[in-house]
Amino acid sequence: MTQRRVAIIADKPGWHGHCLSQAFATHDIDSCFIALSDCALDLSSSPPRIVLPYFGSALPDGVLVRGVAGGSFEQVTFRLDILHALRECGVPVYNDARAIERTVDKSMTSFLMQRAGISTPPTWVCENREQALHIMQAAFARGEELVLKPLFGSQGNGLIRLQELEDLPNFSGVFYLQTYIPTTLPDAVATEDDDQLYYDWRVFVIGGLSHAIMLRCNQHWVTNRAQGAQCKAAVLDPELAALAEAATRIVGADYAGVDIIRDHAGKLHVLEVNGIPAWQGLQSVCTQDLAQCIVDDFVQRKLVKRARDALSLS
Ligand SMILES: Nc1ncnc2c1ncn2[C@@H]1O[C@H](COP(=O)(O)OP(=O)(O)OP(=O)(O)O)[C@@H](O)[C@H]1O
Ligand SMILES: [Mg+2]
Repeated sequence: MTQRRVAIIADKPGWHGHCLSQAFATHDIDSCFIALSDCALDLSSSPPRIVLPYFGSALPDGVLVRGVAGGSFEQVTFRLDILHALRECGVPVYNDARAIERTVDKSMTSFLMQRAGISTPPTWVCENREQALHIMQAAFARGEELVLKPLFGSQGNGLIRLQELEDLPNFSGVFYLQTYIPTTLPDAVATEDDDQLYYDWRVFVIGGLSHAIMLRCNQHWVTNRAQGAQCKAAVLDPELAALAEAATRIVGADYAGVDIIRDHAGKLHVLEVNGIPAWQGLQSVCTQDLAQCIVDDFVQRKLVKRARDALSLS
């Protein structure tokens, strides 16, 4: 059997890339790192060619997407085109471009959650400032606060809590407004810092199953690790696991990090699904090797299946 070769899509390998390539090596699979900005489409020939560094005229046996670098609207569209084109040419892409598009855009994630009946905070999205002010007025009249988030999230940056109409920043863009869900850290959860009042969970789903969970506790209501939150081991109870799995299924992701919050009444809500999740913080508080779990699933469900399909065709 010829050596299988996969591409890990990442601009810089970093800790995650290193863990993934080690995990591929346990399957005797060669992996290399490719930045989407170094790829090209040659549409002068028939069939058209997807040109990837290191692969010459061949295509990889599979592609694992670890990162898609930001850029202009055109650049990001083209980078996703490469992933779409690979899928169209029969290369397994993990996560598929469609899942990445659905998860990178908070509005579409919320739409899909709400439509599928998956518990998520009430959300409104509009471009018109008057409409946004109207939504705020109605929320305040119900005694609720709102959160304004960038449509394309960035590790907890740019979130604003709206408590009065004057809090709405003056900008032209998209207003993604979501009901603020107050939380209080349960007494049972000890943290290093007594002021850590806010928390949510990050559940890691691989191949349709919840594999790991952590609690993220912070002094600030934004509990991303990048915003100083403390990662803590947590118990993956069946309700959290099932909600994270349903959310991942609905966006069509092979692997995802799902952020979940519990309101004062005890109800869980999905805040977002990350289709290109990091797991270094989670790895520090869980026992299984997450990179290995991702790669094992990728190999089992994508590469082995592809090899079987090819055999049955020949
Ligand atoms: N509706 C909400 N109510 C209460 N807290 C919220 C709400 N939405 C977000 N938060 C807090 O802010 C954090 C960041 O929000 P969210 O996960 O939606 O965006 P993000 O992490 O910045 O996005 P991305 O992962 O795409 O970079 C959450 O983990 C949570 O702590
Ligand atoms: Mg998040």
